[in-house]
Amino acid sequence: MATAVSKRLHGKTILITGASSGIGRSTAFEFARNSPKELKLILTARRIDCLCEIAAEIIKEIGAGVKVLPVQLDVSNPDDVRTLVGRLPAEFKEVDVLVNNAGLVRGVAKAPEILEEDINVMFATNVNGLINMTQAILPGMLKRNNGAGAGDIINIGSIAGREPYVGGGIYCATKAAVRSFTKSMRKELISTRIRIICIDPGQVETDFSVVRFYGDKEKANAVYTQVPPNHLEKAHILALTAL
Ligand SMILES: NC(=O)c1ccc[n+]([C@@H]2O[C@H](COP(=O)([O-])OP(=O)(O)OC[C@H]3O[C@@H](n4cnc5c(N)ncnc54)[C@H](OP(=O)(O)O)[C@@H]3O)[C@@H](O)[C@H]2O)c1
Repeated sequence: MATAVSKRLHGKTILITGASSGIGRSTAFEFARNSPKELKLILTARRIDCLCEIAAEIIKEIGAGVKVLPVQLDVSNPDDVRTLVGRLPAEFKEVDVLVNNAGLVRGVAKAPEILEEDINVMFATNVNGLINMTQAILPGMLKRNNGAGAGDIINIGSIAGREPYVGGGIYCATKAAVRSFTKSMRKELISTRIRIICIDPGQVETDFSVVRFYGDKEKANAVYTQVPPNHLEKAHILALTAL
């Protein structure tokens, strides 16, 4: 039986950033499972090989009703983002749902020991990348419905954006910025039919901590021994129920 969500998703084009792993990957599967008959998914990240594998897995599980387009994209590179829509094939150009999920944390250093490179990469990805992606996709959404607009933008923030913690000063600040940007945009878009929300997951076990500890899996695993993380299922279901 078709659910309310699957009816709303039918025929839509969804673009997910950071779809090569974790919450983004899982969200892609969940969209596909909820609209198996007609859906277009644009999966983006830097690791194109992972995206191609995920595309094949989705098609194998769901079938040909879901069309999946893997696209290599570094959201921290403004040129890459600016040229994205122009590079999409015609049938994928009209994005109905943008999931701004790409993001990362680097290190656990406290000021004044935080590496300049880590500060720059976190802001360039989590903040500038998310804003640039939004500005790249929004014009297409605003044109629909004779100017009334149509579309959904789902920003993945974090509970860390609401409750900062020691050793996460930069990451927490980037997620607070995501929350604040989302709130401003919601006010700016109030008279349109474009909805924008920020989802703030708690701790989810993904590659997030592996990236935080620069690839050290032992340190990453230790994060989850004290506090059991949320399951991925909970995180991606949040993204869907937002629609
Ligand atoms: N896990 C948690 O506990 C947690 C909690 C709250 C919020 N979040 C947020 O959830 C989002 C997803 O994280 P995750 O937990 O799923 O971690 P993850 O498994 O490490 O996934 C991160 C994704 O972001 C992509 N990414 C990173 N830098 C990128 C860039 N410059 N350009 C394009 N894509 C980039 C990665 O792809 P490539 O490496 O292939 O580019 C990957 O697909 C992030 O925004 C994170 O802040 C996570």
